[in-house]
Amino acid sequence: MTEQSHWYKDAIFYELYVRAFADGNGDGNGDFRGLITKLDYIQSLGVDCIWLLPMYPSPLVDDGYDIAGYFDIHRDYGTLDDFKAFLEAAHARGLRVITDLVLNHTSDQHPWFQASRNSRVDAKRDYYVWSDTDEKYPEVRIIFLDTEPSNWTLDERTGQYFWHRFYKEQPDLNYDNPEVQAAMLDVMSFWLDMGIDGFRADAVPYLFEREGTNGENLPETHAYLKRVRAYLDQHYSDRILLAEANQWPEEVVEYFGTGEDEFHMGFHFPVMPRLYMALRQGDRTPVVEIMRHTPPIPDGCQWCMFLRNHDELTLEMVTEEERQWMWQEYAPDPRMRLNLGIRRRLAPLVDNDRRRIELLNSLLFTLPGAPIVYYGDEIGMGDNIWLHDRNGVRTPMQWNDGPNAGFSNAPADKLYAPIIDDPTYGYKRINVAGQEADATSLLDTMRHMIHTRKESLVFSRGVLEFLEPEDTAILAYLRRYQDEVVLAVHNLVDEERRTALNLYSYAGAAPYDLLAGATLPIIGHSPYEVDLPPYGYRWLKLA
Ligand code: GLC
Repeated sequence: MTEQSHWYKDAIFYELYVRAFADGNGDGNGDFRGLITKLDYIQSLGVDCIWLLPMYPSPLVDDGYDIAGYFDIHRDYGTLDDFKAFLEAAHARGLRVITDLVLNHTSDQHPWFQASRNSRVDAKRDYYVWSDTDEKYPEVRIIFLDTEPSNWTLDERTGQYFWHRFYKEQPDLNYDNPEVQAAMLDVMSFWLDMGIDGFRADAVPYLFEREGTNGENLPETHAYLKRVRAYLDQHYSDRILLAEANQWPEEVVEYFGTGEDEFHMGFHFPVMPRLYMALRQGDRTPVVEIMRHTPPIPDGCQWCMFLRNHDELTLEMVTEEERQWMWQEYAPDPRMRLNLGIRRRLAPLVDNDRRRIELLNSLLFTLPGAPIVYYGDEIGMGDNIWLHDRNGVRTPMQWNDGPNAGFSNAPADKLYAPIIDDPTYGYKRINVAGQEADATSLLDTMRHMIHTRKESLVFSRGVLEFLEPEDTAILAYLRRYQDEVVLAVHNLVDEERRTALNLYSYAGAAPYDLLAGATLPIIGHSPYEVDLPPYGYRWLKLA
């Protein structure tokens, strides 16, 4: 193995659904041939790594997180050769690619489960978790609360219950079985040998079950994940593992291990709802508090930060009271709620207010961690809450104002999902081509932020230090790395603000506004005043 380059620490990620991006063969589904034609666009955003949502054979009960075969591509998206061509084309543009690794469960259509449910003595019976009663592991919560009454489902044919943390069509694999443990390493090899740059590992806290526990973050689970990492390091170099562990920071840091023996990266779930809370309350406290409660992480590791993703905006990592408040503020229509979250996209969450979209993105790009942009959010796409499950935030990418938004040549009724076509967020108004032609568009601002961030390592590597101006509507912090210091200031309210910041230790410096490209008055020995428009933000280089 060669030296790990730590590329992921400085990377910006772009999360996308192959099915939603571009249809190359006119059947109404996005595919790898279509995606290849859009790589120039992805590259032009300035992002470094694409995270592909599951693209494997699947009955799509959970939109591909129910995998029916680990060694192939869903026919709707193309063939393995198409995937290879995509990977090569991405790499040729300097873009890395990570894919989803779904360890915890398979589809009930997977041959392993088909065999397992065949009879109690089948050789594959023990690949899954079976029980005579549905009373084991009572402390384990149900995740898909709106759909599943239990984590156990009775299999009529063999008269036993099988265990599932998600849909009943997604039986959990039995990690107490050494064959399952080994089989997943083979899955990893298959894709790593092809050249992918790593995995976003799905639902990792739930691999093992133990009586008397809530079945999350168990020592056995960490032990297996360490085996996964050791296997990766033994056979490959420069690849990464990103943990999806929707847990409190103290628990997520366990997934970094020593920094060299488990995950390279982990999503920071708890900070995400608090960005929205702070914005709605016009008060920085929720963000400051969660960052203060975030333990330091080992040197070789990095947080992943996001505003939205393909799931509901999860409210698992807030108190019951905060959750009710978030629902009331951000999901007034019950249809906007799903399980413990909110099925809306970024732009609709902030009433399509360009200032607030930018403000949240500014936080995303300046707080510690590697930012992930969810496809479509860079142009402010809307959602369709009337679609099933989370499909409303997975609608076709809006490329232009032509037929099917330029996504597909298929007849409109053949598309896997309807294009957003309402007066505010519809493709005639919100699309890539229109925004590329407009130098004041959101897309343009997003590119500018991304490029500015990438000019320095201070945002990806720097330490974080909050300032404490009296006005709690101001969220201001320093990022420091080597001899570089940047001050990020955000105004969380819809009013102009002049804030006085304690910057005495930088007296003599003339702050440089990185986004506006302007030099400000020199910092003196009295509080330094910064003016911010309503919901304004500035990135000021101090040294
Ligand atoms: C993860 C995915 C989600 C999926 C679930 C089960 O949370 O993000 O989309 O439904 O795992 O695989």
